[in-house]
Amino acid sequence: ATHNLLLLPGDGIGPEIMTEVKKVISWFNARGGDTFESDEGLVGGAAYDAHGQAISEEDMAKAMASDAVIFGAVGGPKWDDVAYEHRPEAGLLRLRKDMELFANLRPAICYPALADASSLKKDIIEGLDILIVRELTGGVYFGEPKEITDLGNGQKRGVDTQVYDTYEIERIAKVAFELARTRNNKVTSMEKRNVMKSGVLWNEVVTDTHNNGYEDVQLEHMLADAGGMQLVRWPKQFDVIVTDNLFGDMLSDVAAMLTGSLGMLPSASLGAPDAKTGRRKAMYEPVHGSAPDISGTGAANPIAMIASFGMALRYSFELVEAADMLDKAIANTLDKGLRTKDIAAAGEATISTAEMGDAIVAELDAL
Ligand code: NAI
Ligand code: MG
Repeated sequence: ATHNLLLLPGDGIGPEIMTEVKKVISWFNARGGDTFESDEGLVGGAAYDAHGQAISEEDMAKAMASDAVIFGAVGGPKWDDVAYEHRPEAGLLRLRKDMELFANLRPAICYPALADASSLKKDIIEGLDILIVRELTGGVYFGEPKEITDLGNGQKRGVDTQVYDTYEIERIAKVAFELARTRNNKVTSMEKRNVMKSGVLWNEVVTDTHNNGYEDVQLEHMLADAGGMQLVRWPKQFDVIVTDNLFGDMLSDVAAMLTGSLGMLPSASLGAPDAKTGRRKAMYEPVHGSAPDISGTGAANPIAMIASFGMALRYSFELVEAADMLDKAIANTLDKGLRTKDIAAAGEATISTAEMGDAIVAELDAL
C-alpha cells in the first residue's frame, strides 16, 4: 500500500532533523513493500512569515487528508513579538484541535548503549520499554469554570475544573487497550478515585470498556501518586499506562527522564478512527522544541524525529517489522558509540545531525 504523509518541518532545528527523516523514508521506499508519498507544508514561524498565519488553510486541509502528519518543531525568538493568535504554537494547537488528537503517546525506551551513561541505577532502566497514553483534550486544562474571581475581602480565588465525560474516558481507554495488544498486553490505569469524583468515573469507565471486548488485555488500576512512585522505583513493571491530561503531563515527563535526553524522545498523538478506513488521524513529533540555541550548527540530534516516524510505522501503518528494524538501526548506531553532542559523555567524540542520519540509514542497510 501507499501511505500519504504530510511533512511539517517548522522552525529552528525542525527542518534540519526533517532532512534526516526524509533519508529514512527514502530508504523504506527503495526497499519496496509499503511505500510513502510525502507532501510538505509550512507550520509555525515559517508559515507566519509566508502566509501571516501559523498554518495556512491549504496545509491544514492537507493535514486532515493525510494518513499521518510528521511534525518537526515550531517557535523561536524571531516570532516573540507576533500577535498571540499568530504565534508559532498556534499552528500546533490548531492541528491538535482540528484533527481531534485526544490521545498522546509518549514511549520511554532505554537504549542499551545509553543505560551505562545514565545517572540512574542501570538495573532499573536497562531494557525499559513502556508507553504512557495521556488524555490530551479534556480534564482540568480545559474544564469550565476556569477563572480567577475577586472575593472582595482582599482575597482572590483561582478555579480550574476537572471534567471528564464517559465518551472521553472510553475512547482513550480503547486506544490504550489496542496499543497494549501490539505490545505486552498490559494496561495500568491511573487516577485518584480516593479523592476525585472524576477519578471514580475514570476507574468505572476504564473497567467497563475492558469488560466489553478487551478482556484479553491485563488491566490494573493504580492511584496516580502511587503510580508516580512506582514509575521511579521499578518502571519495568509497566507496559502501557493510561491516565488523564494532568497526571499524564507529569508522569510522562518523569518517565522521559528515566531514559535520557530530549533529543531522543519521540511522541504520537492520535484521534478517532475514520468511519470508512478505521485508521486514526495521527501526528508524530519529537517531544523537544525548535532548539534555537543550536539551530544551524549541525548539533541537533535527529533520533527523536526519526523515532517519531518509527512510531508512525508502528501505530498508523501497523508495519511492525519496519518499525522494529528502524529501532534496531538506531540501537546499533548507538552501540557503535556514535553520539551527537547532547548524548555524548564529557570528552567523547561527536558527530553531526547529518552524520547521525546517514549512520542510521547505513545500519538499516546492514540489517
Ligand atoms: P527545546 O526543546 O527547543 O530545547 C531545550 C534544550 O534542549 C536546548 O538546550 C536545546 O538545544 C536542547 N535540545 C532540544 N532538542 C534537541 C535535539 N534534537 N538535539 C540536541 N539538543 C536538543 O525547548 P526550549 O528551549 O524551551 O524552546 C525553544 C523553542 O521551541 C521555543 O520557541 C518554544 O516555544 C519551542 N517549543 C516548541 C515545541 C514544539 O514545537 N512542539 C515544544 C517545546 C518548545
Ligand atoms: Mg509537560
